[in-house]
Amino acid sequence: MKDLLKEIEDCRQNFSQSLEKIRDKASLEEIRALFLGRKRGKVTALFDQIKNLPPEDRPLIGQKLNDLKKEIIAALQKKEIELSEIKEAPEEKIDLTLPGKKRYLGSPHPIMLFLEEIERIFLEMGFVVEQGPEIETDYYNFEALNFPPYHPARDSWDTLYIKDDLLLRTHTSPVQIRVMEKQRPPIRIIVPGRVFRREAIDPTHLPMFYQVEGLVVDEGVTFAHLKGTLEYFLRALFGEKTKVRFRPSFFPFTEPSAEVDIECTVCRGQNPSCPVCGGSGWKEVLGAGMVDPQVLKNVNIDPERYSGWAFGLGIERTAMLLYGINDMRLFYENDLRFLTQFRRK
Ligand code: FA5
Repeated sequence: MKDLLKEIEDCRQNFSQSLEKIRDKASLEEIRALFLGRKRGKVTALFDQIKNLPPEDRPLIGQKLNDLKKEIIAALQKKEIELSEIKEAPEEKIDLTLPGKKRYLGSPHPIMLFLEEIERIFLEMGFVVEQGPEIETDYYNFEALNFPPYHPARDSWDTLYIKDDLLLRTHTSPVQIRVMEKQRPPIRIIVPGRVFRREAIDPTHLPMFYQVEGLVVDEGVTFAHLKGTLEYFLRALFGEKTKVRFRPSFFPFTEPSAEVDIECTVCRGQNPSCPVCGGSGWKEVLGAGMVDPQVLKNVNIDPERYSGWAFGLGIERTAMLLYGINDMRLFYENDLRFLTQFRRK
């Protein structure tokens, strides 16, 4: 009997040592089977030995074994609860002292909002929105627009070439040609889009910027229509009293040509070192002119019957003046303190 009492005590110690090492539920099940398993469980085996004892010893041993079995069952249960708490703690416990997570609501980029506004004004005047590819051929970007190869006028559009004949478009004017090739007058379109140039970056120059092209071709179209439409547009954007001026200029694809300035809204001519207008009080926002008859011929539109006008507006420049921003690089630095100031009205 003594031996059996010792075996019971050994089994108790053996169990508590094994239990200490348990870190997961699978191992817990293993030791449950090892000690309480119906066939090979260590405690079960001890119970089996009772029948070999003299009858007077059986009650005591039976009592001891029942106590051991109860202890083991209770310890396994306790361990099981501990293990599930360790696993579930991170999900279930809420630390009310942690700072909350702020969700930011996205909004369209200010340049996109501005393009929407420009489109709205022109759509009201009966214009249609067109688009063209950002990778262009030399023909559409230059030749069809009256820039022959090696012509010095190409120099002012310092170009990013992909191959000899393929380039990133330097302006939205190639879309004039693409539209006139497939459509007969009357034509009244605007073309918003990105353009690319090899530029030294400064507060008013970027190597990638947006333009909106405008083109009208019909019978009896004159420079007066161009001037009236652009003045109406700029005043719709900047307010009735905004000063607008036209300066004679040159573009190979328009004749006569003009550059259009509006008064500098950043300094109104009061700051001789203004980063936007350089103190002149004016800032160029677009180039424009009457479509050169040769360009109409290039797309088989009869210049004797039809005439047209076109313009190309710089979007970041105009947006700077509208919002009183003194550096256009701010549009592309992705600083939320800047971007979140612009919302759809
Ligand atoms: C042109 O791109 C002509 N295609 C415009 C045109 C269209 C003339 C139709 C006649 C008829 P220009 O290179 O001047 O022209 O550019 C037009 C406008 O784009 C400028 O007035 C200016 O507002 C803007 N712009 C020009 N270069 C940059 C630059 N590097 N960064 C930001 N804006 C620019």
